[in-house]
Amino acid sequence: MDIEKIWPPYGVTITAGDLVLAVTREGDSCELVDLVLDGVHDPDFMPFLFPWTDAPREEVPGNYLQYLARTVAGFSPSSFSLQFVVRRNGEAVGIQGLEANSNFRITRTLETGSWLARRFHGQGIGTRMRQAVCAFAFDVLGATEITSGAFLDNGPSQAVSRKVGYRPNGIQRMERREQLAQQQLLVLTEADLVRGEPITVTGADPLLAQLGLSTT
Ligand SMILES: CC(C)(COP(=O)(O)OP(=O)(O)OC[C@H]1O[C@@H](n2cnc3c(N)ncnc32)[C@H](O)[C@@H]1OP(=O)(O)O)[C@@H](O)C(=O)NCCC(=O)NCCS
Repeated sequence: MDIEKIWPPYGVTITAGDLVLAVTREGDSCELVDLVLDGVHDPDFMPFLFPWTDAPREEVPGNYLQYLARTVAGFSPSSFSLQFVVRRNGEAVGIQGLEANSNFRITRTLETGSWLARRFHGQGIGTRMRQAVCAFAFDVLGATEITSGAFLDNGPSQAVSRKVGYRPNGIQRMERREQLAQQQLLVLTEADLVRGEPITVTGADPLLAQLGLSTT
């Protein structure tokens, strides 16, 4: 048996130019943990709603492995999390996530979230990987809308969302490091998507079958 037959998400790849997005496997964990420990953001600024990068340094590796394991354990057609490891010319640079939180077959709504190791920021990768995963969500999974969110003071994330075509969808008052912070909610429709490079997708059919979305 191949692992991709046992677990269809592992068979999915999205290629966009020199970027390849593949659903993260346990074998990617060491590289990803090294990226996280090298730094994902300025330690004085917390970009994430769940502040996982604030955990004590020695706890981050195990926490990350447990998080990835939960994406497999918690996977169902109505609620799933695809955490794509993004590689540029084979080198892991970060994660592009795509999640369904409320019966996807009915709502057709997905949510994006992403991070890059700090040394890869500001090179256009964040924009390209978001464009690639959104094209996959609309063209292959049949999403109707894609939501996202970023703190108002997260300039790069807001800029990426704007460039990709997301529109503001309200403000949410949140707690961040014991302070009030405002999250900009965002929504993207297929008509608004500013597409990037063409994408090539492999391994989608078994995933569609697993999600109960096959058209045949
Ligand atoms: C968000 C993130 C994935 C963006 O990736 P990236 O590769 O750096 O983004 P890009 O290079 O494609 O685009 C960044 C854009 O932000 C702009 N930008 C950078 N700093 C900015 C700031 N302080 N304010 C406003 N815009 C800013 C850049 O000018 C660029 O826009 P441009 O191409 O029009 O010039 C990356 O910054 C990251 O991993 N951040 C830490 C984790 C994070 O915040 N994740 C999102 C949580 S909501």
